[in-house]
Amino acid sequence: MNTPFVLPTERPAWARLQTLCARPLPHLRELLDAANPSRSAELSFEAAGLRLDATRQHLTPEIWQALLELAAQSDVLRQADAQRQGEPINQTEGRAVLHAALRWPDRAHAPSSAPWGEALAGDVQAERDRFLAAADQIREGRWLGSRGEPIKDVVNLGIGGSDLGPRMAVETLDAYADGAARVWFVSNPDAWALHSVLRGLDPHRTLFVVQSKTFTTQETMTLAASARRWLADAGIEGEHAGAHLVGVTSSPDVAVRAGFSRENLFLFWDWVGGRYSVWSSIGLPLAIAVGSRRFREFLAGAHEMDRHFWSAPAARNMPLAMALLGVWNRNFLRCPTLLMSTYASRMFQFPRFIQQMDMESNGKGVHVDGRSALVETGPVVWGGTGIDGQHAYFQLVHQGQHRIPVDFIGVESEDAPLPLAAEHHRVTLLNLRAQAEALARGRDLSATLDELRASGMDGARAYELAPHRSFRGNVPSNVLWLPGLTPHALGALVALYEHKVFCQAAIWGIHAFDQWGVELGKSMARQMERDAGL
Ligand code: F6P
Repeated sequence: MNTPFVLPTERPAWARLQTLCARPLPHLRELLDAANPSRSAELSFEAAGLRLDATRQHLTPEIWQALLELAAQSDVLRQADAQRQGEPINQTEGRAVLHAALRWPDRAHAPSSAPWGEALAGDVQAERDRFLAAADQIREGRWLGSRGEPIKDVVNLGIGGSDLGPRMAVETLDAYADGAARVWFVSNPDAWALHSVLRGLDPHRTLFVVQSKTFTTQETMTLAASARRWLADAGIEGEHAGAHLVGVTSSPDVAVRAGFSRENLFLFWDWVGGRYSVWSSIGLPLAIAVGSRRFREFLAGAHEMDRHFWSAPAARNMPLAMALLGVWNRNFLRCPTLLMSTYASRMFQFPRFIQQMDMESNGKGVHVDGRSALVETGPVVWGGTGIDGQHAYFQLVHQGQHRIPVDFIGVESEDAPLPLAAEHHRVTLLNLRAQAEALARGRDLSATLDELRASGMDGARAYELAPHRSFRGNVPSNVLWLPGLTPHALGALVALYEHKVFCQAAIWGIHAFDQWGVELGKSMARQMERDAGL
């Protein structure tokens, strides 16, 4: 793409949005109560089985139209097409960005030829078949340790994108893990982190998966060395260690120099960013936990979201809508953070995973042309499971001084094998709905006074307490509904956020696919080692 770069602030729609946000906005309560049937239609989206209810975002139809104009003027969907065509959009590293290729269906099922070419699609399919076959071999007890015993425990050693994606997916899809092999994750080089996992395991029945795109990350290499030593202490050394130690990397030569044999390596490519790599061989731990069939469903959910993103018109495009609403909150309502609140305990890791995806991608302070960013870019993303959050940080969200947009994530149908599971689920979703409503509507001083008086409180006491018991409301939120916590739905959800992050970077005019900020600390640590003569 050779189109000259235009600052976001120079786009007419940006100026229009500034004008619109300078005017007083009706309270969100009024927007929700106004007889405006088109609001619900305009701000409700469906894609790949997911539903997005964005009716509690604090904006008017006029603002929504201006946001859509901003998307058009920023050429977001054309930039998405450049990504899809394999153009080197990761300009500072000179690479294409093709994680969507990892979830393209096998040749026999592909609806059309792959946009990135059949050769690349063939390589992806071959490596996918290879690591999924290994996963099933482990699950079925056909991958034998050095004494001929089947593997029972798999320990993932990796950090950042080589940890968070598979860890989140294994935990979220726990209902599909039949215990064929237990999967553990260690990311922190703190020896206790490794010890607390290894102390319960039998080395002869344990397989380590060393995941590192570069195979140079010091934390991971420290863990791998310790794992080797633990195996050696049990007499598993030299060629015998191969049955207990595999690597996943896009740098096979480096891994071979580190002592891994090529047949024990599963590969991916430099055009897959670490935080976008769960679809590749990096997903091996997930495939081991849930099996190749479920893993393919996970890929299929993401692919369905890709197709939606590539083909839906802007006004109906779910990832683009989430991006635009986020831009409104970040740049015009001036909200510096985004709270992710999941109403399923198995999604505990999801906010951490999105935190890396979003903050490592869009935590940038210069535009693509090298000028200092003139607009706010990626927000601080934080959160956890909603019900726990309600009893911890939600107080500040309701009554603190920051305005904190929320992404609520709920699961429509849950079926835990407990007699009272339906009641658990009812209570969980009731709370999600109540929080979204309470944050949007709030309760003003006069309504609080009325309520206190109606409860029998005397007037003076009611006046004293009312300011403390009033809520300003106007907290914008999305509610994302998954039909169930299935591999397909999770795949679609992750792809949704990937495309959202991409769209925001396109609007802000920043590079989303490098992470130079992380490199400085790494090189300083190396320099300190050299200075210390290590
Ligand atoms: O944290 C920086 C980072 O480069 C991430 O982008 C990446 O996911 C992580 O380190 C791990 O890197 P690697 O997979 O090369 O070990």
